[in-house]
Amino acid sequence: MTNPVLSVENLSLRYRVPGGSLQVLRDVSLSVQPGEVLGIAGESGCGKSTLAAAMIDLTGANAERTAGTIRLSGRDILSLGQADRRRMRGRDVAMVFQDPMTAFSPVLTMGSQLVDFQCNLDGVSRREKRNRARAMLARVGLSDPDLAMARFPHELSGGMRQRAAIAAALLMRPAVLIADEPTTALDVTMEAQIIHLLRELQADYGCAIVIVTHHLGVIAELCDRVAVMYAGQVVEEAPVDALYHDPRHPYTRALLACDPARIEEHTGRLPAIGGRLPDLTAPPPGCAFAPRCPLASDRCRTLPPPRVTIGPGRAALCHEVAP
Ligand SMILES: Nc1ncnc2c1ncn2[C@@H]1O[C@H](COP(=O)(O)OP(=O)(O)OP(=O)(O)O)[C@@H](O)[C@H]1O
Ligand SMILES: [Mg+2]
Repeated sequence: MTNPVLSVENLSLRYRVPGGSLQVLRDVSLSVQPGEVLGIAGESGCGKSTLAAAMIDLTGANAERTAGTIRLSGRDILSLGQADRRRMRGRDVAMVFQDPMTAFSPVLTMGSQLVDFQCNLDGVSRREKRNRARAMLARVGLSDPDLAMARFPHELSGGMRQRAAIAAALLMRPAVLIADEPTTALDVTMEAQIIHLLRELQADYGCAIVIVTHHLGVIAELCDRVAVMYAGQVVEEAPVDALYHDPRHPYTRALLACDPARIEEHTGRLPAIGGRLPDLTAPPPGCAFAPRCPLASDRCRTLPPPRVTIGPGRAALCHEVAP
């Protein structure tokens, strides 16, 4: 194995909220190899966006890291000064959000913003940056890049804006592209096109991709490896085929238990499981999934589950999973 481009080691993070704090990430460890596509899945509220934002050091002001490190290309990002952190965003890592409007200012043309996004590139003239922007817009499938450059973000369709947001991220040539639900706001056809585009871009540029998604189809089509999150923890990590064919954590099994044809026919999204996430202001002492788990025993309710290594690149956080 080569050195990971991105690694999260034993990360715990909480949000300060009125009257207490939410333990939103608890001892999360993950790594991403160069060129790899890692999917992060799990139901709403389990901490996926928080983890994605932490990877690029963009968690909100009320977020507090209580333990752990995040390394990009081997460097601990939290030990860097502000200027180095800004430089790191772009060169090492860039992000695509669910709502592409968040990436752009509404009052500047796409062209000037795409040029400004390249502020990390030293020794490149403004004219060259415009040319790079134009070429990248064409690459992500905008048929008239010059027209798109002259427009304001709200003058583009949702699909075009998301393509432009991907172009903006890639213009910085990051080693890792982090995408938080980049297709959720799009219709199914557009979603398929964006997934196809991400796959092509990954092949062309060789950047690693971390993609957060609720969508099983996206994971199956795009990802090499998957991390399944539950209540702020990674409960299972596996190569994508292994996860689909032999899910080991009871939570993953529950997610995949529904008939895939039925899932696709209806919404294509992960099904809901009976019960709800535990209160993250006071996570339970044992396994967080125990109250909803068909296999739960007394020890599951009282002792934190061990991280069981199942095989190469495979692990599950569970008392009941055999190595
Ligand atoms: N800035 C914040 N301050 C306080 N609580 C927050 C903040 N951001 C998120 N949360 C809470 O933290 C938990 C995890 O949120 P997060 O957005 O990371 O989940 P998610 O898995 O991305 O969910 P979704 O699938 O709905 O996007 C939720 O309970 C959420 O309400
Ligand atoms: Mg989210």
